[in-house]
Amino acid sequence: MKNKKFCITTPIYYINGEPHIGHAYTNVAADVLARYMRMRGESVYFLTGTDEHGQKIEKAAGESGEDDVKVFCDSIVSKFIGLWDILNISYDDFIRTTEFRHEETVKNILSFLYKEGYIYESNYEGWYCMPCETFWIESQVENKICPDCGRELEFITEKNYFLKVSEYRDWLRGYLEDNKDFILPQSRFNEVISFLENPLTDLCISRPKERVSWGITLPFDDDYITYVWFEALLNYITAPGFLREDDSFKSIWPADVQFMAKDILRYHAVYWPIMLHMLGLELPAMVFSHGWWLIEREEGIDKMSKSKGNVVDPRELIDRYSTDALRYFLLREVPFGMDGNFSESSFIKRVNSDLANDFGNLVFRTLNMIVKYYDGIIPESKKAVNSCDEFFSFKIASIYEKIEESMKVVNYHNVLEVIWELISAANKYIEVKAPWKLKKEDPDELAYVIYTLSDVIRIVLIALTPFIPESTQKAWSYFGYKDKVKEHDYSEISSWGKVPFNQVVEKGEPLFPRIEVEDQ
Ligand code: MSP
Repeated sequence: MKNKKFCITTPIYYINGEPHIGHAYTNVAADVLARYMRMRGESVYFLTGTDEHGQKIEKAAGESGEDDVKVFCDSIVSKFIGLWDILNISYDDFIRTTEFRHEETVKNILSFLYKEGYIYESNYEGWYCMPCETFWIESQVENKICPDCGRELEFITEKNYFLKVSEYRDWLRGYLEDNKDFILPQSRFNEVISFLENPLTDLCISRPKERVSWGITLPFDDDYITYVWFEALLNYITAPGFLREDDSFKSIWPADVQFMAKDILRYHAVYWPIMLHMLGLELPAMVFSHGWWLIEREEGIDKMSKSKGNVVDPRELIDRYSTDALRYFLLREVPFGMDGNFSESSFIKRVNSDLANDFGNLVFRTLNMIVKYYDGIIPESKKAVNSCDEFFSFKIASIYEKIEESMKVVNYHNVLEVIWELISAANKYIEVKAPWKLKKEDPDELAYVIYTLSDVIRIVLIALTPFIPESTQKAWSYFGYKDKVKEHDYSEISSWGKVPFNQVVEKGEPLFPRIEVEDQ
């Protein structure tokens, strides 16, 4: 379908507290893919948002002293939006589950599922975790403790409404067998397959208002609201216009990549596909489940989370260093999909070695030489334009395909490694060619070397733009380009000789000043 947009989603975040680097991680990852796809000429729909209903939020509002839960939500949501602004997250749509477009469509979906017999009423008896808002079956519970959060469970008996997911286990298993790339990385796919070896229990999709009232009332029973997870998953289709704007919805759904961390993969890889199937909708092409940022404390290593009170505030890191330093660190430090241990010292080490030394110095040294040897004007070298120096030709001939292959499986770590091979080669080239000697000995060769370096940097800047867009734009302007690097086609990284002769550069400021650390 020609008019189909490339659709990328992130989880919608709970707003019971302020955003931390775990949230920033997912949104930066999604943003890189969105920017890359736009540079490949795709029209992109990138959706993020906030999950504002349920007991967690109601409780957090109460604890903050705000009686009006919506007013509380408004105050926290602005912190998320503020963070996405300073992190340069280029989302196209932001959904809040308290918006009319969401609530109305969720009600319509509930009515449809109820009418078609997918939802039925029954008595629930069993263990319930208040903070997680999750029911557990007897076989999952040991010592009345929640298997997820470790807090005490309550035994409850009450009428509720259930979604018939149990009947769709075999269908889902078949679907997964036929679509082995549906869940990435592969290890997570295997986890879901083994989870589905056991029978599925129907999903309880209601909560009695006497227990939780902050939510969407069931259209077929006024005494109940819908379970927050059931409505939250639906944001992925309520935002793009399901049951509302048919044409726009058709041009967006199905999603191409849905990002989330491993803790909520099961909702996205089991319940969500079944819900879509019941609604007669196509499944997303891929759900990518990344790892956790962990934090080391005296008690040991633990997941960074609001409830554990051990979060790192991304705004502080950005203030102290920069947006791009944080964006780069998050995606380079840990292979996407694995857990990572956050520490400020590894952050500083990574930024100094890769961004200040390798990348920043290459740009700065080259600009300096153009200023020093050519009064700031990129020299003409027909020889350089006609053929790429063999020092680089092999790397440049394959860079586009290598990046494309890694991007297809969202392997950012590999992409950055490929780009860094080129950066390292360029730094080595300066050492080998020693331009400072050529000035007198061989002026033609000097022009050739400087032009070649400028062209390699052009390629590096385009290639890095999805990752560190602010810094590449700055360097782009230093090199004298008047347009926006993000408006270039990504495929330009495989062509050679594209720097205009006689373009006027400026020396500019160092892109990533070295972070000095005091000796202990
Ligand atoms: N509201 C649900 C999601 C509903 S989606 C239909 C939720 N919200 S959350 O605020 O807890 O955020 C979950 C997401 O935040 C994770 O899936 C992950 O993307 C990100 N992260 C939160 N903590 C994280 C880490 N410590 N490390 C990495 N990512 C983390 O669950």
